[in-house]
Amino acid sequence: DKGGWSSFMAKEVSEEPEAVANTLRGRIRGGEVVIPELDGLDELFQGISRIIVIACGTAAYAGQVGKYAIEQWTRIPVDVELAHEFRYRDPVIGPDTLVVSISQSGETMDTLMAVKYAREHGARTLSICNTQGATIPRESDAIVYTHAGPEVAVASTKAFVAQITALYLMGLHIARVRGAIDHESAAAHIAELEAVPGKIALILEREQPRIEQFAGWMADTRSVLFLGRHVGFPIALEGALKLKELAYIHAEGFAAGELKHGPIALIEPGQPVFVVVPSPSQSPEMHKKVVSSIEEIRARGARVISIAEEGDAAVLPKSDEVLRIPMAGPLFEPLLAVVPLHIFAMGLATAKGLDVDQPRNLAKSVTVE
Ligand code: M6R
Repeated sequence: DKGGWSSFMAKEVSEEPEAVANTLRGRIRGGEVVIPELDGLDELFQGISRIIVIACGTAAYAGQVGKYAIEQWTRIPVDVELAHEFRYRDPVIGPDTLVVSISQSGETMDTLMAVKYAREHGARTLSICNTQGATIPRESDAIVYTHAGPEVAVASTKAFVAQITALYLMGLHIARVRGAIDHESAAAHIAELEAVPGKIALILEREQPRIEQFAGWMADTRSVLFLGRHVGFPIALEGALKLKELAYIHAEGFAAGELKHGPIALIEPGQPVFVVVPSPSQSPEMHKKVVSSIEEIRARGARVISIAEEGDAAVLPKSDEVLRIPMAGPLFEPLLAVVPLHIFAMGLATAKGLDVDQPRNLAKSVTVE
């Protein structure tokens, strides 16, 4: 039931705040993460020396965001691999490897086969999944469910923010079990997470109509580029994927630092480029770098659409359009910055008269290899 919304996707984007809130619910107590599903696994978490995240598509981008936080908090090296690449290269895994799979459906065949492979080769497995009782969690040693609620539209939106939330909870839990961070820091990160639903709600309330209108003006666009740095990089990739799958527009995401190693050659007058801008107060150094990337592409005629913190005065005169997000700590910005990109892709596809719930050639869950 679309509940009065024009599409399941519109409904599901509107549910992004609840997806985060429900994934946090019941899992925080006194400034600590408490995940009943992970009870009794302390020894497993103490014994690992690497983490490999496996997933496909949007779930893999959630994994890429998670990597930054999990490494920072646990000091365990984290690799993120596309599930379909994982088992074809004889990966180095063993009992000290935790393989974390991420899947909304829990039925993606590539991810399932990778989890089975990891198990057979002695790795420990943990599944982050949105669908109770699905096949992938049943094949794993441990499960952390995302509570985004059923996601019907082919494009994954609310599951993405829920996946990042679950990864962060898992990362904080492992970090505390191993004594890698203290109570105060964990509590501060948890407070940041708890503030996310309200901040996403603000974006939906203040920016959605404007972004939809702006997307409508761009209905004839043939190609869009997305730039980001650090945690903004996987968000750029996610923005590009959504535009491809929903609006059938050529789109590419790049790490901003990679520009001068090739992609800047693509910039010609009028080329729209979305730039995920880090907070000037929270990440001053990275902010400076991203602003200088904006200057470089603008000097070559790019049309810059910045996703930036409200109050970021530096980007305003350098951008053709600014989509505003509330302030958040560096690791929590992706949970906000992705929302305007979801709205934009949906708005552009709608303006082109396309079915946003069921894009051509795609299935909601890919149960073949
Ligand atoms: O069900 P899963 O999370 O395993 O699905 C993974 C991908 O197929 C999925 O995220 C896909 O990339 C989406 N259509 C992207 O919006």
